[in-house]
Amino acid sequence: MAFDGIRQAAAVLRGARRIAVLTGAGISAESGVPTFRGPDGLWRKFRAEDLATPEAFARDPVLVWEWYDWRRGIIAKVAPNPGHVVLARWETRFPNFTLITQNVDGLHALAGSRRLLELHGNIWKTRCPDEGRVAENRDVPLSPIPPRCASCGGLLRPHIVWFGEGLDQDILRQAFAACAQADVVLAVGTSALVHPAASLPLAAAESGATVIEINPDPTPLTPHADISLRGKAGEILPRLAAALD
Ligand code: OAD
Repeated sequence: MAFDGIRQAAAVLRGARRIAVLTGAGISAESGVPTFRGPDGLWRKFRAEDLATPEAFARDPVLVWEWYDWRRGIIAKVAPNPGHVVLARWETRFPNFTLITQNVDGLHALAGSRRLLELHGNIWKTRCPDEGRVAENRDVPLSPIPPRCASCGGLLRPHIVWFGEGLDQDILRQAFAACAQADVVLAVGTSALVHPAASLPLAAAESGATVIEINPDPTPLTPHADISLRGKAGEILPRLAAALD
């Protein structure tokens, strides 16, 4: 990754009026949260069909909750890294800044991001499928498993978008609007394989935005990126922030 790339990206950001950032599991990797598709990725060890679909939950809610409880245990022990911190600071540094994440770990909020669009839900929230009510639950470990709705007694589910399910339409609409209006879009730590999230930077590119990708490896987004910064988010973002000042 060339030094020039950082300088060029900083110049683009300095001139931007509206910025949107899409993050994926890679931004939390340096905190110690496993990604999904890397060498130690979750989908290399577990079958999504057994754990992250409505059918899997209907078949075996205890197994599904035990898996989320295990992930919650990992995430509870880790902290935001310098990449999360830079993005939280940029919310106040830039007047029009939208952070969109595919991550469910809550680390952006923990780093201080307030205006945050969580496309795939949040692992610290439960939802009553019957009543639709969403509640925060930070118990580690969870007890009992599976948790039940205090009001109707039904099974609670993780407030996470599973395979085969649609995203929250209001959140998705806001994310597409932010990308359509942005002059600059950064895609940070995502394999850009899962749609509709992966369509966001592409839609921004079509609307004329400059696309900056931060990832150690190329992705399907790379050919559409104007600037590719090869490296770890926890190192590149602080360097980019320093180059802005
Ligand atoms: P993936 O695991 O598919 O991709 C992670 C990306 O992060 C890869 O492109 C890595 O090269 C990159 N990466 C690894 N370490 C990095 C680092 N230190 N800095 C920057 N990048 C790094 O994760 P996502 O793209 O987020 O869905 O996956 C999208 C969705 O698929 C997830 O939200 C999840 C999963 O099924 C749900 O949970 C609903």
